[in-house]
Amino acid sequence: MTRVLSCIQPTGDVHLGNYLGALRNWVSGQDKADVFHGIVDLHALTVTEKSDIIGANTLQLAAMLFAVGLNPDVATVFVQSHIAEHSQLGWIMECTVSFGELSRMTQFKDKSAKREAEFVSAGLFTYPALQAADILLYDANEVPVGDDQRQHIEITRDIAIRFNHRFGDTFVIPKAVTPTSGARVMDLQNPTAKMSKSVDDDSGVIYLLDDPSKIEKKFKRAVTDSETDVVFDRERKPGVANLLEILSAATNTTPQKTAENYTRYGDLKSASAEAVIAMLAPIQKRYHDLLSDRAELMRLIHKGNERAQAVASVTLARAQKSIGFLSSK
Ligand code: TYM
Repeated sequence: MTRVLSCIQPTGDVHLGNYLGALRNWVSGQDKADVFHGIVDLHALTVTEKSDIIGANTLQLAAMLFAVGLNPDVATVFVQSHIAEHSQLGWIMECTVSFGELSRMTQFKDKSAKREAEFVSAGLFTYPALQAADILLYDANEVPVGDDQRQHIEITRDIAIRFNHRFGDTFVIPKAVTPTSGARVMDLQNPTAKMSKSVDDDSGVIYLLDDPSKIEKKFKRAVTDSETDVVFDRERKPGVANLLEILSAATNTTPQKTAENYTRYGDLKSASAEAVIAMLAPIQKRYHDLLSDRAELMRLIHKGNERAQAVASVTLARAQKSIGFLSSK
């Protein structure tokens, strides 16, 4: 059976890009494969300097993952810091990736530039090594992600191939899987930049917990383009293309087909808002129900952790054996 792994950071609220680019596909994939999904709080630490934030965000994110439809009976949802093997294999991965390779990561360049006046941790730089550990620990064949994570999956493949070459066949080589529409949801106010949790002005970001009037307002104010015709052209009309992509992802069709139904920007905006509100309503309801029962949420997390650790510990031991560390037994 195909093994799938993908993770999300507990930094800020989950937005439409996370949902359409990743979470939705995690849910649709859970009955076809053996799926593992991590809340990667160690990764969040690369940009967190205050106490008592990551834990609360982790619990809320767990509620959101079940609210969007991950079924705890089939999907393994775990918390990264609860499984020590991630840190342990992370170090081994740091020794398997080069400084030069890490220097080429666009996410590091973007994030460190944005944090120009702030503390840039070494962890932000070595982040892809820990991400490689997340993936390789579970022998994942497929990693369902948004477009922005492709480079991190590529470097994971390179690391795995290098490790296997150095120390003998140990890791499964994974591949990235991105959705046909929604792989790169753009900011409604700035349609040439991806929708992201880390922006100063979030008026172009739709959060999964936004209420209907907020969603309507954000779509109404979405930046479109100077001409007035509705066609799907990412280069020439990025604002309209983004709306078409969101609406078609929410209604399970293609942006080209959706474009045929509209002649005016205003109608496209209100239809997009309406479709997104309808898509999010049941998720919001489930989220609030789940979050109100902390004990049950913790039970689900423990259950996922147990399953995840059973797999991760075997893979870590295999990697340690391949390297030939002196056994402690
Ligand atoms: P993160 O937490 O930033 O995002 C979680 C998922 O959401 C996708 N995504 C988007 N998709 C489409 N349009 C957007 N605007 C958009 N913004 C975010 C991301 O591609 C991702 O799939 N490094 C990862 C977390 C991670 C991970 C892993 C992922 C750690 N270890 C192992 C896969 C496998 C990250 O920061 O995702």
